[in-house]
Amino acid sequence: MTLLAVGKVLYIAVYNGASISDVIFGPRPRLLRNSDPFMIDPYGRTVNYLRVSVTDRCDLRCIYCMSESMTFLPKPELLTLEELDRLCSAFVDKGVRRLRFTGGEPLVRKDIVGMIKGLSRHIKSGALEEMTLTTNGTQLEKHADALWDAGVRRINVSLDTLDPVRFAEITRRENHGQVMNGIAAAKARGFLIKINMVALRGLNENELSKMVAWCGAREFDLTIIETMPMGDIDGDRTENYLPLSMVRASLARDWTMTDTPERTGGPARYVRVEETGGRIGFITPMTHNFCESCNRVRLTCTGKLYMCLGQTDSADLREPLRNFPGDDRALHAAIDEAISRKPKGHDFLIDRRDNAKVDRHMSVTGG
Ligand SMILES: C[S@@+](CC[C@H](N)C(=O)[O-])C[C@H]1O[C@@H](n2cnc3c(N)ncnc32)[C@H](O)[C@@H]1O
Ligand code: SF4
Repeated sequence: MTLLAVGKVLYIAVYNGASISDVIFGPRPRLLRNSDPFMIDPYGRTVNYLRVSVTDRCDLRCIYCMSESMTFLPKPELLTLEELDRLCSAFVDKGVRRLRFTGGEPLVRKDIVGMIKGLSRHIKSGALEEMTLTTNGTQLEKHADALWDAGVRRINVSLDTLDPVRFAEITRRENHGQVMNGIAAAKARGFLIKINMVALRGLNENELSKMVAWCGAREFDLTIIETMPMGDIDGDRTENYLPLSMVRASLARDWTMTDTPERTGGPARYVRVEETGGRIGFITPMTHNFCESCNRVRLTCTGKLYMCLGQTDSADLREPLRNFPGDDRALHAAIDEAISRKPKGHDFLIDRRDNAKVDRHMSVTGG
């Protein structure tokens, strides 16, 4: 009886020109801002950093990230750039201060720099502090100027080796020269650059010290990352797993490293290299619990929100986005609900029985 009455009211209202959202939430102007802009999770952590994987596609096939025969999402499943803009803007409305675009390879998505440029309106308004990018560098030479014009000032470039032959071995592609040109173009344009290097036993472990010197000479920060068990790859990740405790011990033979108290809300712990003045960040998800200060959530190119890199729970934001065009209240409510489910921490585990503990690839959530 009551259900019938509600249905009748809905029908009359929609028949008279109201949208379903008007009926459910009351009439509101387009894209109203939420009155409470801060996202605080159940453990009291403020969430103010959003990482957005704008595509799962990539022009490289790094052996620890994906298999050679990786299956990518059908293109129609991807959110449009307009939808990504609206989602990012909703997060800015809710208190996100930093956006990082990643992938897959973000720069292989057509017109992505245009979208970033559009979002720079939030920097101009003061709502957003910065937009950054994590890239493999293959397309960087082509896009460095446009990215600068779009308001990006800091870029992370993934580079596991300075040796072209080893680069081909790790990425299964021959673009080493292209990446080096991309890094040079970004440096010339004035970007602050951080190099991401995944530490790989038997592949680049002998090059770590050389990379510290190379980065130091160019005033690049360096982040060294442990392999994480995410998604199936052709081989066994344990073969190349190199704990960063060992990396640090081996670097200590060549460099004087002083711990710094810097924290970014992420998994890196930083040291200052006295000889070069540069910084090295160690990302040790496997051997160190970095979750207590986590300030971030991750959005996929299909509109799924992952509240933790190392867990499978997610929230679907595509539905409220598409079902309520021009009205963000359902979207804001879905974001709030997702944040209320942000877990205390991850439980990554790398072992031979359960190599891919989290079955999605890093290219889905962007790392
Ligand atoms: C997934 S990539 C996406 C952005 C871009 N394609 C790149 O490579 O920089 C982001 C970062 O994740 C790292 N990564 C990918 N798979 C990983 C894994 N299984 N364990 C640890 N790091 C991984 C990459 O080395 C890269 O630095
Ligand atoms: S790490 Fe980045 S560049 Fe390498 S395959 Fe994964 S997404 Fe592509």
